[in-house]
Amino acid sequence: MQRSIILSAALAVLSLTGTAQAQPAAAPAGNVAHGKTLFTSTGCYQCHGYQGQGLGTTGPKLAPTPMPYEAFIRQLRKPRDAMPLYTSKVMSDGDVQDIYAYMLSMPKAKAAADIPLLSRF
Ligand code: HEC
Repeated sequence: MQRSIILSAALAVLSLTGTAQAQPAAAPAGNVAHGKTLFTSTGCYQCHGYQGQGLGTTGPKLAPTPMPYEAFIRQLRKPRDAMPLYTSKVMSDGDVQDIYAYMLSMPKAKAAADIPLLSRF
């Protein structure tokens, strides 16, 4: 009896840690309207497009499914290649969270099956 309790407690701990590893860190909540303003006023739109849709070779697509938040903010603080640097002096972590929220708020594309013209054949 006691052994089974210990075993199920151990299993519960195992499944909890397993879940924690499988889930990426949750995106912080941000202010979408402020993020939209920043996306324009700080110049992101010039390379990534007004809706973060990407502009060919100028800047990759960011919305509606941006990379995980940790990677997103890392790119601003330490750009991989040609993108300008945005330090916390010119853009606070809170501002980055708002921009991230704006990217997430973009409508997702419909599945082909949900577009009548594409599902007729
Ligand atoms: C002058 C053009 C330019 C501006 C302005 C710019 N970016 Fe970028 N961005 C790039 C380019 C080019 C890349 C590709 C990686 C690199 O060059 O570092 C990139 C990559 C990224 C990525 C990584 C995307 C991926 O899939 O790899 C994120 C996130 C990002 N930019 C966010 C932003 C945000 C937010 C802003 C505004 C605060 C911004 N960028 C402003 C050009 C720009």
